[in-house]
Amino acid sequence: MEEDILDSEKLESDTFENNIRPQSLKEYIGQEEITGNLKVFIEASKIRNESLDHVLLYGPPGLGKTTLAHIIANELGVNIKTASGPSIEKSGDLAAILSTLEPGDVLFIDEIHRMPKFIEEILYPAMEDFEMDLVLNSDGKSRNLKIDLPPFTLVGATTRAGDISSPLRDRFGIVSKLQYYSEEELLKIVMRTSRVLEMPIEEDAARLIAKRCRKTPRIANRLFKRVRDFALVGGYEKITLDLAEDSLKRLKVDEFGLDSVDIEYLTSLITKFNGGPVGVETIATSIGEEVSTIEDVVEPFLLQEGFIKRTPRGRVACEKAYEHLKMNRQGTLF
Ligand SMILES: Nc1ncnc2c1ncn2[C@@H]1O[C@H](COP(=O)(O)OP(=O)(O)OP(=O)(O)O)[C@@H](O)[C@H]1O
Ligand SMILES: [Mg+2]
Repeated sequence: MEEDILDSEKLESDTFENNIRPQSLKEYIGQEEITGNLKVFIEASKIRNESLDHVLLYGPPGLGKTTLAHIIANELGVNIKTASGPSIEKSGDLAAILSTLEPGDVLFIDEIHRMPKFIEEILYPAMEDFEMDLVLNSDGKSRNLKIDLPPFTLVGATTRAGDISSPLRDRFGIVSKLQYYSEEELLKIVMRTSRVLEMPIEEDAARLIAKRCRKTPRIANRLFKRVRDFALVGGYEKITLDLAEDSLKRLKVDEFGLDSVDIEYLTSLITKFNGGPVGVETIATSIGEEVSTIEDVVEPFLLQEGFIKRTPRGRVACEKAYEHLKMNRQGTLF
């Protein structure tokens, strides 16, 4: 049962992710405000010989939350136990995880906004006083049991800070919002991945990937991986600009980094719904995607880049979307 909740083994088998994942704050590129502060807090906790305050990391997918959680444990020199919000269904699940912790350990809960509410409530005393209250039922009688826990650091990650109840959020001493990456940072990330995976890339080719990865390291690495496949099969020893351009075209990644799902989303919004306002469920159905995929993966970048707007009555296409698709307000090509 424990294996189901503690999915560290699953992570371990994902060798590609592990190889290219930076292991220390020094290797972690960008997010300098966050890493600068974390460095201080980690050092201070070591000097005081106390566990680090609980950390909440939030922001769009693929910006490096999981990576940062592992780095925090590495920098503290402690073990990390990982679990994901939806996998903790019973109080016993949480108790099982907490009972494996040693003093100072990091407990990483991914998708913490998807944890059941009553589990959250068990977590409050665990976070605050390192105590856990269990209710035991036997012989028709129930008994309260208080269990002492070792001091530990909870690192929570979420793509939806708004879905976290405020009592839970308030119990995190350190709350950090990850930002989209700059082109220069992404360039460094692509060059680093190229070194780690031992596939050389010309700088202008790396820059092209950096420009078209939706400001997201995970996508930069994914594009690099695919371009590397084209290089391998095409007999290239090095990724050139021509090869990168050609590969991205074949992958249907356009000059803004929008892929076919983004384009489908915008096209549907403009042609089927007159540019909105329209509810996210309706758009999701019209293009056959899950609402959660649309909200967590597709929309954050479109919003950030000004292709769409969120209004109380639904999503609205902005001028930039019409221009990009070369469409007019009637939803026809100009
Ligand atoms: N600052 C960084 N420097 C170098 N590589 C990074 C950085 N941040 C993320 N990456 C790389 O990007 C990929 C995605 O990172 P990660 O899995 O940590 O994202 P995430 O925020 O946890 O995403 P999700 O919300 O989907 O779980 C990893 O392969 C990681 O190596
Ligand atoms: Mg993650």
